[in-house]
Amino acid sequence: MRKFETILVTGGAGFIGHNFIRHVLLETQFSGKIINLDKMTYAANPATVKEQKELFGERCEVVVGDICDEETVKACFEKFAPDCVVHFAAESHVDRSILGPGEFIRTNIIGTYNLLEATRFFKSSGKNIHFHHISTDEVFGSLGETGFFTEQTAYSPNSPYSASKASSDHLVRAYCHTYNLNTTVSNCSNNYGPYHFPEKMIPLMIHHCLEGKPLPVYGNGSQVRDWLYVSDHAEAIWKIILSGTVGETYNIGGENEWKNIDLVETICERVSLLAQISLDKLKSQITFVTDRPGHDQRYAIDCSKIKSELEWKPRHSFNEGLDKTIQWYLDNKSWASALSSSDYQNWLQKNYAARK
Ligand code: NAD
Ligand code: DAU
Repeated sequence: MRKFETILVTGGAGFIGHNFIRHVLLETQFSGKIINLDKMTYAANPATVKEQKELFGERCEVVVGDICDEETVKACFEKFAPDCVVHFAAESHVDRSILGPGEFIRTNIIGTYNLLEATRFFKSSGKNIHFHHISTDEVFGSLGETGFFTEQTAYSPNSPYSASKASSDHLVRAYCHTYNLNTTVSNCSNNYGPYHFPEKMIPLMIHHCLEGKPLPVYGNGSQVRDWLYVSDHAEAIWKIILSGTVGETYNIGGENEWKNIDLVETICERVSLLAQISLDKLKSQITFVTDRPGHDQRYAIDCSKIKSELEWKPRHSFNEGLDKTIQWYLDNKSWASALSSSDYQNWLQKNYAARK
């Protein structure tokens, strides 16, 4: 099992990055320090960073910086000498990538390249760094009604987002093969849980239920996603970092497929119960809108490799995870104050204009 003293987490102010930091510092034996390098884009909530400072003090140092800036990345490696890099930072929303791919190409590809270069440079001066890259099941494209993505499935990305993630995965693979960097990669299905920016389906539906706004279902709602509670993802990543085989990729999934329309109806039912709102009213808010261009039909992960090799399995049932998530949004309304930011409001308008 590997041991680390200083872990550089990129994108640790975002949804999964923050849940990962919480997992490592609250739930594991790790006694070292985490450096959270984050540009604080629209997707990073300042309230999340405030929580990290209050909860973890000097065990979690936040560095505001852009992974696309070579000097920033190099300075971070020089100052903190990490022995592990866990790379979450990315532009992560498919709809945004369709409206404007440029930032996805920059952050997801150039940003990953800069981190790999820094890791390579420090390896050549004797510092052995483990590099774990967080990727997505979307690199595999779309499934029909049956079958699952395995680690052997050929890449077939369909959106600018997934194409940029596929490119970054290939760079990681190439740096491992060519420069013998110690890398691992994980490809995970859709996450849900606390601290999720409400432009994504589950938190968006919860917020719109609570605010009496339309619940926009893309197309006919027949698309299928495999949902995993975010702390189960964090636990899987931690296992890979400690014990995963260098050069290998691991699929992570919830074994929990939902058709979008069924999921939205279930969210209505659970919000109705937990927030005491009439179910008929919530269901009347469901609105079918213009589909996402190139919308992938179905994702489903075969996660038998990580289950058998690293003894990981999802801990949360979907009922439990969904109720915990809804309750978290009910208890943390102030966290969502970032929603009033003009960037997010402009984006919402742009996205809805594209769906009329
Ligand atoms: P997110 O959008 O919530 O957070 C991304 C974070 O990265 C933000 O804090 C943002 O400020 C930061 N960031 C963006 N550009 C940056 C830059 N140039 N330099 C430094 N920091 C930058 O994303 P998320 O949902 O937490 O996803 C994290 C990772 O997990 C991504 O790599 C994503 O592709 C992958 N992933 C996400 C899911 C999911 O369901 N959300 C599933 C599988 C894989
Ligand atoms: O599969 C992993 C991926 O999951 C990650 O790599 C991405 O970073 C993450 O954003 C997520 O991508 P999706 O596109 O699957 O997630 P999203 O929450 O945007 O949408 C989930 C499904 O719900 C998708 O089929 C589109 C649909 N949808 C989404 C929104 C925001 C709606 O019907 N209405 C909506 O308003």
